[in-house]
Amino acid sequence: MSNNRVSRRQFLNYTLTGVGGFMAAGMLMPMIRFAIDPALQTKAEGDFVQTSQKIDEITEEPIKVDFTFEQVDAWYKSDVTEAAWVYRDGDAIIALSPVCKHLGCTVNWAGDSAHPDQYFCACHGGRYEKTGKNVPGTPPTGPLDEYEVAEKDGFLMLGKKIPNTLG
Ligand code: FES
Repeated sequence: MSNNRVSRRQFLNYTLTGVGGFMAAGMLMPMIRFAIDPALQTKAEGDFVQTSQKIDEITEEPIKVDFTFEQVDAWYKSDVTEAAWVYRDGDAIIALSPVCKHLGCTVNWAGDSAHPDQYFCACHGGRYEKTGKNVPGTPPTGPLDEYEVAEKDGFLMLGKKIPNTLG
């Protein structure tokens, strides 16, 4: 006869511990998944957003292009509309963020009649060259951000914001 026999008390302990652990895991797993799931989802930030702007209608004169995308903030989804100033430079399409690098107001192309070939920020008189380079002596201390651009079926696609590469 073996000395390793399990007593009735031990058997009940093992069984109850096993069943209890199994049930606890069954209850906790969905809760843990619910808590961390949004953090595991891919952010829409890196994706390109379709615009209604035809590529072949973009000229050397900057135009404002609005685009809408779905923003996921934890469990809350909302449609966000943003804009870009878009122009053609040879074969390249340039898209600039309209957010002023001073305090975040919106800049407008030719917004100041004294400087019709620059972006103008009416909040504090900030100005930028067509490439987004900030004009020295005005409040902004850095250039406008760029958007990554792509083309799909002849239409402009805008990606994530990147630091200005145009100098
Ligand atoms: S926010 Fe644009 S110049 Fe101040």
